[in-house]
Amino acid sequence: MNVLFVCLGNICRSPSADGMLRKKLAEHGLDEKVTVDSAGTGDWHIGKAPDQRSQAAAAARGYAISNLRARQVVAEDFDKFDYVLAMDKSNIENMKEFMPSGKVRTQPELILERFGNDKSITEVPDPYYGGEEGFQTVLDLLETACDNLVLELKQKLA
Ligand code: 4NP
Repeated sequence: MNVLFVCLGNICRSPSADGMLRKKLAEHGLDEKVTVDSAGTGDWHIGKAPDQRSQAAAAARGYAISNLRARQVVAEDFDKFDYVLAMDKSNIENMKEFMPSGKVRTQPELILERFGNDKSITEVPDPYYGGEEGFQTVLDLLETACDNLVLELKQKLA
């Protein structure tokens, strides 16, 4: 199985989800069975490490994301990955530009619509232009979603 997280810049939300899911999978002994990646729809930060604020917030919760490097979504992603999980609705809209015209294996979904506990919250807000609390909100929302995703993967791989 393989999971792709997608946001705009691939330097805040999706790399945070990437590092978080890797750790949770390892804790459940699933790290050999599931591969995790992240990408952005924008091209501004390709090759860059995650934003320092995301690195610090993730590290404080035990998630290592410093070694991740940003990449842009590519057409092959929609056939390669079992899950393509977007942070917000604009990511889904922006991904259409990259999707092959024919049938794809995996349609992108909003991570919180699929794996969130509070169905009234459907998007992980972009923290880039805000303050520190935005980075904590991102991690809070992703913790629940990644826990629910791990449970599903565990069942599917049992
Ligand atoms: P992300 O956050 O999509 O969570 O990585 C952003 C990072 C950079 C920009 C926007 C959002 N930017 O405009 O450069």
